[in-house]
Amino acid sequence: MTAQNAIQPPPLKAAVYVTAFIAALAGLLFGLDIGVISGALPFITKEYALNNTVSEWIVSSILAGAVLGTFASAPVSRLWGRKTALLLSAVIFVLGSLGSALAPSPAMLIGVRFFLGLAVGIASFTAPLYLAEMAPQRVRGALISMYQLMITIGIVLAFLSDTAFSYGGHWRWMLGVLAFPATGMFLGMLALPQSPRWLFLVGRKTEGREVLSKLCGSAAELDAEVAEIEHTLERPGGGFALLRNPNFRRVLLLGFALQVAQQFTGINIMMYYAPKIFSVAGFASTQHQMFGTVLIGVVNMLATFIAIGCVDKFGRKPILALGFMVMAFSLLAVGAALWMIPAAATIPAPGLWQFLAVGFLILFIIGFSMSAGPIIWVLCSEIYPLAGRDLGITVSTATNWFANMLIGATFLTALDTLGNAQTFWCFGALNVGFIFLVIFFCPETKGVSLEKIEERLMEGRPLRQIGR
Ligand code: BGC
Repeated sequence: MTAQNAIQPPPLKAAVYVTAFIAALAGLLFGLDIGVISGALPFITKEYALNNTVSEWIVSSILAGAVLGTFASAPVSRLWGRKTALLLSAVIFVLGSLGSALAPSPAMLIGVRFFLGLAVGIASFTAPLYLAEMAPQRVRGALISMYQLMITIGIVLAFLSDTAFSYGGHWRWMLGVLAFPATGMFLGMLALPQSPRWLFLVGRKTEGREVLSKLCGSAAELDAEVAEIEHTLERPGGGFALLRNPNFRRVLLLGFALQVAQQFTGINIMMYYAPKIFSVAGFASTQHQMFGTVLIGVVNMLATFIAIGCVDKFGRKPILALGFMVMAFSLLAVGAALWMIPAAATIPAPGLWQFLAVGFLILFIIGFSMSAGPIIWVLCSEIYPLAGRDLGITVSTATNWFANMLIGATFLTALDTLGNAQTFWCFGALNVGFIFLVIFFCPETKGVSLEKIEERLMEGRPLRQIGR
C-alpha cells in the first residue's frame, strides 16, 4: 500500500472483521482443547485407576499429534488452500471431540487425543497464516493478536465448563461438548473465501483479485496490493528450494528461536500445572488452588487486550522486549519468594511470601499475554517470504509444539531435582536471554507490507532491519 494511503487510510470493511472472527475461532478450539484436560484428568485417573505415565500420555498425546498436524498442514494448505485446511481441522475437531467423549479405554483416549492433536496442529499453522494473508497491513498485528485472544478465551471457557461438569464428575461431557464450537467453526469457515495471496500463488488471479476487492477499502489500495503480490511472485524458487538460500535460512532460524523463546518463558507450566504451583507456594486447599487457576486464566485473557491495543501502535519489538523484562523480573522474584517459604507441611496458613509468590506469578502472566503470547505468532506469520511461508510457518509452529511438549514433560522432574526456587530462577534467567534475542535479532514489522519485508530479507539486510 502506498504512502498516500497510509496518510488517509480508507475505512476497514466489515468483511475484514467477519473473516478475522471466524478464522480466529480456530484459536478458540486450540485453547479449549489445551485447557480442557486439566479438569477432566482427575476423573479419568480415578475411573481407570491410572498410573502417572498413562495420565501423562493422556495429556501429551495431543501435543505429539499437534507436531505431526503442523507438518501435514503445509502440503494441505499449499495444495488445497488455507480455507480447506481450516475446514479439515474443524472436521477433525468435531470427530476428535466426540471420539474422546466416547473412548472406551485409556488407550483409545490416548489415540483419539493424538488424532485431535492433528486438528490443533493444522489450526495453529493455518489460522495465523490465513489471517496474515487476509488482513490489510495496518491492522494485521491486531487481527493476529485476536487469534491469540481466542486461544486464551478458549482456555478460560474450558476451565469454566470443566468446573460446571465436575460437580457430577462428567468428564466425557467435558471433552465431548467441544464438538459444538467445532461445528460452529466448520459452518463459519464454509462462508469464507480462500486467501487472496494463496489464489495468486496457484495462478487463480481473477479470483484472488475479487477476494481482495472485498477486503480493500479503495481501488487504489486494491491495485497497490495486487501489484505487490505480483511482484513477489515473480521471484523464482519456492518451498524446499529456498533452503539453499542463506537469507531464507536466517529467517527460518529466527522463527525457530522465537518459538523456543515463547515456550521457554515457562508459560505452559502455569497452564498445565497451576494447581501444583499453588500447592508448592503453600496454598494447600483445593479451593485456593482452583481460585488461583481461574485467576491465571482470566488474567491471561485480559492482558492479551494490551497487545491488541498496542501492537500496531507502538510496534512489535518494544512490547516484546518489555514483556520479556517483566517475565524475567517476575520469575526471579517468584523464585525468591519460594526460597523464603518454609516446607509446605509446616505452614499453618498462607502468609506474606505466599501472596508475594502469587502476585509475581500473576505479573508473569501479564508479561506473557501482553507480549510473547500474541506477538510471536504475529511475527512468525509475517517474516517469511511468500514462496517459503508454508515451510517457515511449519517449522516455527512445529517448534512451538515440540518445545511445549518438552516443558510439559519435564517441569515436575525439574521441581524435584533442582528445587522449587531454582526452577523458577532458571526460567527467569532464560527470559533475560530472550530480551537480547529481541533487541539484536527481531525486526520491527509494524505497518510494513509482507512484500516489503520479503524484499529486505532477500537483499541480505540484518534480520533486525528487514522491517522498518
Ligand atoms: C502459546 C500456548 C499457550 C497460550 C497461553 C500461546 O501463544 O503458544 O502454548 O498455552 O499462548 O495463552
